Amino acid sequence: MTDDWLGLKGKVCAVTGGGGGIGRAVVLALAEAGATVAVLDRDEAQLAETARLVAERGGTALALPCDVSDPDSIAAAAKRSLDAFGPCAVLVNNAALLRPGPLRSLALAEWNALLAVNLTGCFLCSQIFGEQMLDSGGGSIVHVASIAASHAQAFSGAYSAGKAGVVMLSRQLAVEWGPSGVRSNTVSPGMIVTPLSKDFYAVPGVLEQRGAVVPCRRVGQPEDIADTVVFLASPRSGYVNGEEIIVDGGFGRGLMSLIPRPGYERPGQS
Ligand SMILES: NC(=O)c1ccc[n+]([C@@H]2O[C@H](COP(=O)([O-])OP(=O)(O)OC[C@H]3O[C@@H](n4cnc5c(N)ncnc54)[C@H](O)[C@@H]3O)[C@@H](O)[C@H]2O)c1
Repeated sequence: MTDDWLGLKGKVCAVTGGGGGIGRAVVLALAEAGATVAVLDRDEAQLAETARLVAERGGTALALPCDVSDPDSIAAAAKRSLDAFGPCAVLVNNAALLRPGPLRSLALAEWNALLAVNLTGCFLCSQIFGEQMLDSGGGSIVHVASIAASHAQAFSGAYSAGKAGVVMLSRQLAVEWGPSGVRSNTVSPGMIVTPLSKDFYAVPGVLEQRGAVVPCRRVGQPEDIADTVVFLASPRSGYVNGEEIIVDGGFGRGLMSLIPRPGYERPGQS
């Protein structure tokens, strides 16, 4: 039996937004699998905390302050990672902002600011870290999008359009770089409890109401997303390329259950 079933031991992995809820869980899961992790975030305090948690568990992580909307900042982080660990084998594009807003009055500056992080940031990180993968013969890029990429929601500002862009960017990378050994896939989370969404859950009853509309009957935790990201990062998914895995407890498959069907409800039965 191998103790490296995921094939990630010693692999260099870069995770953006690694100071946040899902990003931190991804960093910890990769480190647990034996990977060496370059952690990027613009929040230096949260970044340091993630690196501390990895070290506490005996793993290896390098905290790299970085703004993913700034190509110079990413290039500097990528160089530090390369100098410290060698070429990157896995990139997880996870950093993003949530800024709701009505389309009628959404300012262009707001629209551009969100896309600069959520969409252009994924492009820039893929290009800059992808260079290391292409030069070293391969790698795996995993983007964290959202169910918002395929389900429209009123007042979501540039968020949904940006996430839909990420899904297509991933497919483009898959077909363009697949022949060079670089795979690209997307994980689309549903409702996950993280700092990004904590204000929703601070309202009494929202946790239960949200859980009730999910077939798994609970909202998700960052670890639910991290496990899927790790699978796509690993050679265990070596023939999966250009795909989107939706991790939402079945929420998006529940449309039919909204249709009233008198006589077909089965109260108390499943
Ligand atoms: N929480 C949810 O319910 C949910 C649902 C669907 C998708 N997602 C997606 O999951 C990903 C992670 O979200 P989360 O819930 O963990 O959010 P989070 O706010 O906890 O973490 C996001 C991290 O990204 C960092 N970040 C933001 N802008 C940055 C920038 N310009 N440069 C570098 N770092 C930056 C933040 O500092 C933060 O640490 C995001 O892509 C988000 O859109 C989350």
